[in-house]
Amino acid sequence: TASQVFVKNPACVAYTYDDLIMMPGHIHFGVGDVDISSNFTRNIRLNAPFVSSPMDTVTEHQMAITMALQGGIGIIHSNLSIEEQAAEVRIVKKFKNGFILDPVCLGPESTAADVLKIKRQKGFSSFPITDNGKIGGRLMGIISNRDTAFIEDRKAKVKEFMTPREKLVVAKDGVSLQEANEILKTSKKGKLPVVNENDEIVALIARTDLQKNRDNPLASKDKVNKQLLVGAAIGTRPTDRDRAAALVEAGVNVIIIDSSQGDSVYQIEMVQYLKEKYPDVDIIAGNVVTPSQANRLIQAGADGLRVGMGIGSICTTQEVCAVGRAQASAVYHVAKFAKKFGVPIIADGGVKSTGHITKALCLGAGSVMMGSMVAGTDESPGEYFYQDGVRLKRYRGMGSVEAMDAGGDKRYVWDDMTTKVKVAQGVSGAVQDKGTLRRYIPYLMQGVGHGLQDAGIKSVAEAHEKLYSDKLRFEIRSPAAQKEGSVHGLHSYQKRLY
Ligand code: XMP
Repeated sequence: TASQVFVKNPACVAYTYDDLIMMPGHIHFGVGDVDISSNFTRNIRLNAPFVSSPMDTVTEHQMAITMALQGGIGIIHSNLSIEEQAAEVRIVKKFKNGFILDPVCLGPESTAADVLKIKRQKGFSSFPITDNGKIGGRLMGIISNRDTAFIEDRKAKVKEFMTPREKLVVAKDGVSLQEANEILKTSKKGKLPVVNENDEIVALIARTDLQKNRDNPLASKDKVNKQLLVGAAIGTRPTDRDRAAALVEAGVNVIIIDSSQGDSVYQIEMVQYLKEKYPDVDIIAGNVVTPSQANRLIQAGADGLRVGMGIGSICTTQEVCAVGRAQASAVYHVAKFAKKFGVPIIADGGVKSTGHITKALCLGAGSVMMGSMVAGTDESPGEYFYQDGVRLKRYRGMGSVEAMDAGGDKRYVWDDMTTKVKVAQGVSGAVQDKGTLRRYIPYLMQGVGHGLQDAGIKSVAEAHEKLYSDKLRFEIRSPAAQKEGSVHGLHSYQKRLY
């Protein structure tokens, strides 16, 4: 059992997910009956206990919207100016099913080459044309496949081949999705711009979006306004108080104080300040890996704790700083301690498969936070590119030199920049294209459902009950057993996830 593995552990060996394997249980229910909903913070429960990391190659509004629609939550990174980060939060809060509130727009002077470039990067082919080339500008026309199909001159200006304003069918701001649907049906158009009284574009509605299954019964929403839930990260410098104020103003539901070592006076003061000033916003502190670290942050008022140090796929903290902890041990010990205070923990980093998620939840985590697992999806920031014939997206640690130069150093240097030398605690790389989260998250959910079912566990709550009454059985796998437990003995193979 977990207490034999982690507590009666005279050799002080720390374990991580791959070291452990769960014993099967008795199955007396279908996989569809498994309930993986769980507590993310004291006050927020998620139908899918998945959280996307506050990293500049992982979570901006598109990731956060899709995570929340699927029942999880995204945390907007803070390598942005205060205004930019608050704007990202606002886009998520304003999200309305079927309405594209931030369509890519072009100006009349843009060229066919610009259109083709965006088409290649983004994968869509219709753009509203506005006088200033931005959302909010006056609508001048639309470019769609039909307009670009026969263009030979790449220098041709958009205004020469767009479908002009007078030929467009538009809807007025305030239109309901149902009304929009009717307009699209009768006009047989693919796109419907929504304009205000000054003919400025405020949203775009796409027929293909309406046709997709847009029903998201698991979506994470706040109870009062029925808006999607979203989180955002801040640091512990004095300016981060202004950042928090702007985020709260934008409607953020949870603030994460982002640090690789959260047990500091700076963070304790910040938690106390935020809890007093914004009692309705949940505050997640961390990262921590031991109960004593957790204790100080819980006493300060944290509503959730992020657990993990130096175990992320892009992390070099353990190598550079000699401090950290194997993740399964960290999750088990901190979760067991925090449970006494009703504070859920988030197992952050090091997740490489659905099996790891299942193990994290069975070791006491309320949710898992993922970077590399959800990087390289259509919804993560950045463009796809090819390397050796493989489609990739950039993914980098917030402690990599590149991310620190863009502002990420606040996660690693907590006082007010008295240090001049920056020491990297992460690397920068790329991950393979995983397609859209709209298919990937259901795959993760189903995978975790199968895992719990095999273990004879019907819900995350039951997993925790069994864990703490010593009824969940784990074994340690020898290195040979770990090898045996993954693909072996094949000359070559193809791995498709779903
Ligand atoms: P995964 O394994 O999901 O890990 O890719 C994501 C988590 O890693 C943490 N993180 C870092 N840790 N150096 C570190 O030591 C870094 O540069 C870095 N960037 C992110 C963070 O907790 C994230 O959620």
